[in-house]
Amino acid sequence: AVNMKGKDLISIADLTLEEIYEIFDVAHSLKQKLYTNEPHRYLEGKTLGMIFTKRSTRTRVSFETGIYQLGGLGMYFGPNDLQLGKSESIADTARVLSRYLNGIMIRTFDHNDVVELAKYADIPVINGLTDLLHPCQVLTDLFTVLEKKRKLQGLKLAYIGDGNNMAHSLLNGCSKVGMNIAIASPSGYKPNKEIVANAKKFAAYMGSKVEILDDPVAAVKNADIVYTDVWASMGQEEEAEERRKKFAKFQVNPKLVKHAKEDYLFMHCLPAHRGEEVVDEVADSPNSVIFDEAENRLHVQKAIMALVM
Ligand code: CP
Ligand code: NVA
Repeated sequence: AVNMKGKDLISIADLTLEEIYEIFDVAHSLKQKLYTNEPHRYLEGKTLGMIFTKRSTRTRVSFETGIYQLGGLGMYFGPNDLQLGKSESIADTARVLSRYLNGIMIRTFDHNDVVELAKYADIPVINGLTDLLHPCQVLTDLFTVLEKKRKLQGLKLAYIGDGNNMAHSLLNGCSKVGMNIAIASPSGYKPNKEIVANAKKFAAYMGSKVEILDDPVAAVKNADIVYTDVWASMGQEEEAEERRKKFAKFQVNPKLVKHAKEDYLFMHCLPAHRGEEVVDEVADSPNSVIFDEAENRLHVQKAIMALVM
């Protein structure tokens, strides 16, 4: 087996294909164990610090439940709980927390803060979302696709909407596992060029494609998966009105998904702004796996914690 002990999980781009599939294997086995009530207290007595400077439903609840089920303890720190950022540097916080904890999960705005924390921490740091990336979500999404489609390589994922943290981690994840990815976004909201260029390299190696398009119909054509995310992310609340106008043609609705394969999966990291990026007819259709994705956050993150801690 692959040894990931002590590793950080900051970006899917840093993982090998073997490590990605190791996470999926362990997640599958942990899911079975949970369903059959088989003990799996692999992190007995260990502690995970969970630092949040942004809101969260899924990430917080799934990490905290997950570490508890593994026999450990999760500690939640909200925006006003630590000295961090106000009266203590990231580096000193990392050094201190490393003396108490066995792992840190962090959700925050600036991706560089997570990189900095990991640099000075002696314990694994897990990225629970930054403005740039959301790796735990996309590992979970790929695991969910694997469960439903029994393969990843060669499938086509269409992402419709903002070139944000989800788009970036999907670019990393799909290209690493050899899935084709087509992204349609309005101009001015395209994904990060460096991440696209890097994804194209991974994709070339795996024999898959990366397409950055303007037209949602072209992106969705023949897709196995149609993915979307909110038009205004956390921290962009004041842009919401302007974005509603600019993204109006990028809604995932019955007319758009007609261009996908008949057995396409609809995916969304959630929270969904129903009536904006997606409508109920799609989000609640038999093709939708949004709540399986949400559930799988638990199993996949338990796998990540068990492997790196
Ligand atoms: N998908 C996701 O990360 O959800 P939360 O913001 O609720 O954690
Ligand atoms: N792009 C969204 C994802 C939430 C899970 C955000 O950053 O708010």
